[in-house]
Amino acid sequence: NNPSYFSQTLINWYNRNKRNLPWRTTTNPYFIWLSEVILQQTRVNQGLPYYIKFTEAYPTVQDLAAAHEDEVLRLWQGLGYYSRARNMHHTARQIVQEYGGNFPGNYSELLKLKGVGNYTAAAIAAFAFKEQVAVLDGNVFRVLARVFGISEDIAAPASRKIFQEQADQLVPATEPDTYNQAIMEFGAIQCTPIMPDCLFCPLQQSCFAFTHGLVQELPVKSKA
Ligand code: ADE
Repeated sequence: NNPSYFSQTLINWYNRNKRNLPWRTTTNPYFIWLSEVILQQTRVNQGLPYYIKFTEAYPTVQDLAAAHEDEVLRLWQGLGYYSRARNMHHTARQIVQEYGGNFPGNYSELLKLKGVGNYTAAAIAAFAFKEQVAVLDGNVFRVLARVFGISEDIAAPASRKIFQEQADQLVPATEPDTYNQAIMEFGAIQCTPIMPDCLFCPLQQSCFAFTHGLVQELPVKSKA
């Protein structure tokens, strides 16, 4: 029950169970950023065709920056939350104008981009630049809450720090990219919100929630 046991178990699980998704075979920060913006409020199956459409229509950040907003919004049709598309377009222009078309190369510099929050900055830093930083989304909150018995309300902004500190300690120096994909995928497929597959879970014996009969109780999430 130490950090490397946890990360290695997840990586092993991932290598056996992962879905093949196109943003997982690239280290291009622009493609990774596109995928994360598209997937923010969208399921993988719904987002996938849009990722393909956008990377084909705009193969570089310069192409996206040079596009007309109408055209970007037209390609976005069906995904909803159009402010995401407008912010994405704006950020592409910022990267071309202020950064010479190159994404900043680390987490804290990425955070300075408009519309790039903790989550997206961590995802680009980990997946494109292999920075040893934890990517925290709803899947990761759930896995950590259950395995480590963290009962802080995941809907409370103050909980983020507690989870981020726990999460950062678990990221292995080797393969921080694979590990982060692994824990997100594990939450999406194995450690699901309802009916998680505890019977066939490789972390069953070291999982706080499982060994204490608290799988249905964790994570704690207040209603907004
Ligand atoms: N949802 C958001 N980011 C994702 C990723 N990198 N892989 C799978 N699902 C995701």
